[in-house]
Amino acid sequence: MEWDFLVAKAIKAKEHAYAPYSGFRVGAAVLTHSEKTFVGCNVENASYGAAICAERVAISRAVSEGETLIKAIAVTGDSNEIVFPCGICRQVFTEFCNSETVIICSNKKGEYRVYKMEDILPHPFSKADLNIKP
Ligand code: THU
Repeated sequence: MEWDFLVAKAIKAKEHAYAPYSGFRVGAAVLTHSEKTFVGCNVENASYGAAICAERVAISRAVSEGETLIKAIAVTGDSNEIVFPCGICRQVFTEFCNSETVIICSNKKGEYRVYKMEDILPHPFSKADLNIKP
């Protein structure tokens, strides 16, 4: 299947999840417009609110390397059910994705469904609302 390679990277990234509090490991993989990939896992903290999701780790790694436009992002977790990104991650996607970006939501077996931003976060708040050009 078309996105198997990116889901596989997310599943592999999940192995490094630091999740001693929730026990729920998450992995993510970003494909940027210049065809580079970046992975991330969730990183929890004894101060629970300091946890960061796998998707935002992967996106931060991409942005840190100057890659600010995401072509596709895959997310997976320790579940037989498809794992969807949390609300904060959807907001962060809004900053670095466009209407063409493919959001790939997977379970631990690598089964996945594909979405667009308008499916997972309709009517987003974005830089356009602040009159900032793309
Ligand atoms: N988590 C993610 O990494 N991504 C999401 O989109 C949903 C939640 C993590 C955060 C926390 O470490 C664990 O899953 C349980 O909420």
